Amino acid sequence: MHIHKLEKIWLTIGITMLFVFLAILGVSAFAMGVKPPSEHHHQLDPAKVQETAPFDNPGLHQIGDNEYEAVMTAFTFGYAPDKMEIPLGATVNFTVTSQDVVHGFAIPGTNVNMMIVPGEVSHVTHTFTKPGEYLILCNEYCGGAHEYMKTTITVR
Ligand code: CUA
Repeated sequence: MHIHKLEKIWLTIGITMLFVFLAILGVSAFAMGVKPPSEHHHQLDPAKVQETAPFDNPGLHQIGDNEYEAVMTAFTFGYAPDKMEIPLGATVNFTVTSQDVVHGFAIPGTNVNMMIVPGEVSHVTHTFTKPGEYLILCNEYCGGAHEYMKTTITVR
C-alpha cells in the first residue's frame, strides 16, 4: 500500500500528539496520586489554632436573623471562650477544634455530642428553646483533669 508523503507526515504528527497527551495525563495523575493524604485530611495545624481563622476570633457571632456561629476551641483541660451567653430561641452552629489532643464536646439533654479531633473542625447545630444553664463537657479521656473539663453556656 502506498502512503502519500504528506499523509505520512500528518500521521506522525497525530501519533506524536497522542503520546504527548497521554504523557501529560499520566504525569498529572501521578502527581495527584503521590500527594500525602494528610494534606486533604487535616484542615488546620493544632499548634496554630489561635492564629487560624475562624479560631483567631472565638466566641458567638451573629450570622442570621436568630442564628449564630459559636467558634470554640477545646484544650487540656477546658474550652475557650469559657462562658457564653446565648439568646433564647437562637440556633447555634458550633464550630469546634482542639488545640492539643482528642476531646469531647457534649451538652447533656441536647443532640450535641461530638468528638473533637486535633487538626479537624467539627460542626453541630442546636436550637436553644429553653432558658437556663447548659453544661458543655468532655466525654473523651484526655488526661489527668479530664473529668473537670467543662464549661457552661447560659441561655436567656
Ligand atoms: Cu478533654 Cu476529656
